[in-house]
Amino acid sequence: MVHKQSIILGIESSCDDTSIAVLKGNQILSNYLATQEIHTEFGGVVPELASRAHQQNIIPVLEKGLREANCSLQDIDAIAYTRGPGLLGSLLVGSSFAKGLSLGLNKPLVEVNHMKAHILAHFIEDNASTPKFPFLCLTVSGGHTQIVLVKSALEMNVLGNTLDDAAGEAFDKAAKMMGIPYPGGPLIDQYAQSGNPKAFPFKISNMKGYNFSFSGLKTGILYFLRRNVELNPLFIQENLHDICASIQETIVATLLKKLTKAVTDLNIKEVAIAGGVSANSELRKQLKAKEIEGWKVHLPKFEYCTDNGAMIAIAGKFLYEAGEFGAFSNAPSPRLKF
Ligand code: KG4
Ligand code: ZN
Repeated sequence: MVHKQSIILGIESSCDDTSIAVLKGNQILSNYLATQEIHTEFGGVVPELASRAHQQNIIPVLEKGLREANCSLQDIDAIAYTRGPGLLGSLLVGSSFAKGLSLGLNKPLVEVNHMKAHILAHFIEDNASTPKFPFLCLTVSGGHTQIVLVKSALEMNVLGNTLDDAAGEAFDKAAKMMGIPYPGGPLIDQYAQSGNPKAFPFKISNMKGYNFSFSGLKTGILYFLRRNVELNPLFIQENLHDICASIQETIVATLLKKLTKAVTDLNIKEVAIAGGVSANSELRKQLKAKEIEGWKVHLPKFEYCTDNGAMIAIAGKFLYEAGEFGAFSNAPSPRLKF
C-alpha cells in the first residue's frame, strides 16, 4: 500500500557527484552530496576515477544523509536510483548499491531517468514556485540540451535535442580553451558578471525545429582565441571577462531562441528550466524578463540545478506512487531512452 507521506531514498551517481537524499512527501529531509575534486586537474571527468570515488563516497554519504534526516533505513518506503543516462562505471556503483539496499531491507526498488529527474526537481516543496501541467522545460546539462513538453510527472515528450555538444559542454569546452579549470560553466558565469556581452559577437546557430547545435560555436571560439593570441599573447588574460560574457550571451541567446519558438508554436506560457546550466545567472535573468510577455517562469532552487539525490527521490516518488517498480535484472543504461 502506498503511504500518504511516503519516504523515498534517492541515489544519484551518474557522473561525478555522489548524492543521496531523503524525501518525505514532497519535502526534502536531507540532500547530502560529495563532489569529486580529483577531476579538476584533468580538465574533465575521468570515468574510472569517478567510479572509484563513488565507491569511496557512497556509504559515508548515506550515513550522513540519514543522520541529518533523523531517519533510519527501516523508515524508508522505497529506494530510487539513477539507471541512466550517464557514465557506466559511475551508474554501476549507484545501481549495485541501490539493489543491495532494496534486497537487504526488502523495500521496493525504483529506476529513475536522470533527465526526467532534473525536470521533476521542480516539484520539491522548497522551490520558489511549482509549474502547472502542461509546461515546457528547457533541460540543459553537461550531457544534454532538450526542450521537453511535460504533460504530467510521468508523461513527457522531447520536442528538440542538441545534435552535437550540450550547452554545459559548450561552457566547459570554451572554459578549457581559456585555461579555466573544470567545470568551467560556473566560472564563466562568475567572470561574465563584470564583462561586456557585446564585446565579441559570436554566431548563433539555427538548426531545424527545436534542435540545437553548439559545435560550430566551439570551433568559432577556438579560431577566435587562436587568432587573437597570435597577435597578443596576453589577449585572454586582458579580456577574460568580456570573452566570458560574450560566450555566455551567445549560448543563452541560442537557448532562448528555440525556447521562445516552442512557447509561441505550442502557445504554452508555463515555462521551466532544469539541469546544471539552469544555475546560470544570465539565463535565469533573461528568462525571468520574459514574464512581461506573459510567460510564467519557474527557476529551480540552486541546490536542485546541478546533479543531486533530491531530484532522484522526487522522481522516484512519482513512480513509486504509480506502482512502477524496477527490476534486479535491469542493468544501468548509459544511453537510457527518455
Ligand atoms: O546537470 P549537471 O550537474 O550534470 C549533468 O547531468 O551533466 O550539469 C553540469 C553542467 C556542467 O557543464 C557545468 O559547467 C554546468 O552544468 N553549469 C553551469 C553553471 N553551473 C553549472 N553552466 C553555466 N553557468 C552556471 N552557473
Ligand atoms: Zn544532470
